[in-house]
Amino acid sequence: MANVIVIGAQWGDEGKGKITDLLSRSADVVVRYQGGVNAGHTVVVKDQTFKLHLIPSGILYPNTKCIIGSGTVIDPKVLIGEIDQLAELGVSTEQLYISQTAHVTMPYHRLIDQASEEQRGEHKIGTTKRGIGPTYADKSERIGIRMVDLIDPDGLRSQVTWAVKHKNAVLEKLYNRPPLDPAAVVEEYLAYADRLRPHVIDSSLEIDKAVRDRANILFEGAQGTLLDLDHGTYPYVTSSNPISGGACVGAGVGPTIIDRVIGVAKAYTTRVGEGPFPTELEDEIGTILGDVGAEFGTTTGRPRRCGWFDAVIGRYAVRINGLDCLAITKLDVLDSLPEIKVCVAYDIDGEVCNHLPSNARQFAKCKPIYKTLPGWQQSTADCRSLADLPPTALSYLKFLAELMEVPIAIVSLGPSRDQTIIVEDPIHGPKRALLDAPQISP
Ligand code: GDP
Ligand code: IMO
Ligand code: MG
Repeated sequence: MANVIVIGAQWGDEGKGKITDLLSRSADVVVRYQGGVNAGHTVVVKDQTFKLHLIPSGILYPNTKCIIGSGTVIDPKVLIGEIDQLAELGVSTEQLYISQTAHVTMPYHRLIDQASEEQRGEHKIGTTKRGIGPTYADKSERIGIRMVDLIDPDGLRSQVTWAVKHKNAVLEKLYNRPPLDPAAVVEEYLAYADRLRPHVIDSSLEIDKAVRDRANILFEGAQGTLLDLDHGTYPYVTSSNPISGGACVGAGVGPTIIDRVIGVAKAYTTRVGEGPFPTELEDEIGTILGDVGAEFGTTTGRPRRCGWFDAVIGRYAVRINGLDCLAITKLDVLDSLPEIKVCVAYDIDGEVCNHLPSNARQFAKCKPIYKTLPGWQQSTADCRSLADLPPTALSYLKFLAELMEVPIAIVSLGPSRDQTIIVEDPIHGPKRALLDAPQISP
């Protein structure tokens, strides 16, 4: 399999969890490289559903090492809850490792995220309110607490006491909120440290060892390209770099070890939170996509906004991530529709625009220019090869591959592992060799 990065090619929730789980079968190591508990990655195996926020989606394979990398931010309470939940479901986390340089989300980060969103009013981002932005802000301001600090009781006491006092001033004076008790926060986090200490390692060394052993490493992105802090639809983005370049930074590896980059995209588009969304459907079809696709946030339960596939964004994701191929998920959600639209370009004040404008004001003005394709109006959920697909469904996929100039390597037709077509004979000619087709067990 080589070293592969899996990224979200849209606004998150593309099905990265399903695809990572699928590919993890042939991975020795799976690394989450950015984001925190804002992520919600769903993996369905037979009748069990796993909702993972921080733990890499390779955890269901007992021999796969799972590393939460340096570029992530860790909410210890949620992580411990996730470990306990997996234990209840019979999944071992013995092979779970956490980078000592990952930053820790503290109670004041969550409170500031919530208060800041309220104060922004109509300018809110629509964050997950999990403290992600404030944790990364402290990292940049160089006042963050890292896992290496968390597991050192003496250091933690003095650092947390100082930090809570500092943040209490922000909570009280800026947001008119009650202060936190430093001693209580210290005690709470000392307990988390005791639970997590056995998992904390120098992850860069561990990954380097895997590289030298020629192990197969999978880098699992969270969020998606359009939520990237530098290259997404700023300011309606997250505070990390979900794009493929972020994998090198967040895992601590050089770009020369990466063999392939896979983009995961839904056969339509969804977005949670605020911000422009040119192909959004606020009509009956949007409701059908939401209902059939069960489009509710894995982390917050918020309904996801739904719309047609946007190939301008798709092409952008190909460019920004250097995608080798795509995994198209949730094709089955389109099964009932008589016709399907794809946005091929934007209209900005009467001018045709083929690329994503980096200016937020311009992006807000974009009106989709659609190409309409026929639907197939039959179930694809049981298709297991391209030959099983209705011809119009295959034409739809071919159209997407042609528009984005990238082959489609995987087609997903349902949440389960077996509801997948691994395309060995690529639709649009590979730029490089495609993935080895893994043996998928249901
Ligand atoms: P992620 O954040 O990118 O991992 O995606 P989420 O897990 O948040 O959201 C994707 C949702 O779609 C999950 O509930 C998956 O179980 C589900 N899913 C994934 N692939 C498919 C598919 O091909 N068809 C359908 N119907 N559901 C899918
Ligand atoms: P996965 O990994 C979809 C969105 C939030 C909000 C913006 C900023 O499951 O694809 P944040 O809490 O990160 O400061 O919120 O980013 N967002 C996601 N949307 N999927 C996610 O993760 C997301 N993580 C954050 O809704 O618009
Ligand atoms: Mg998700």
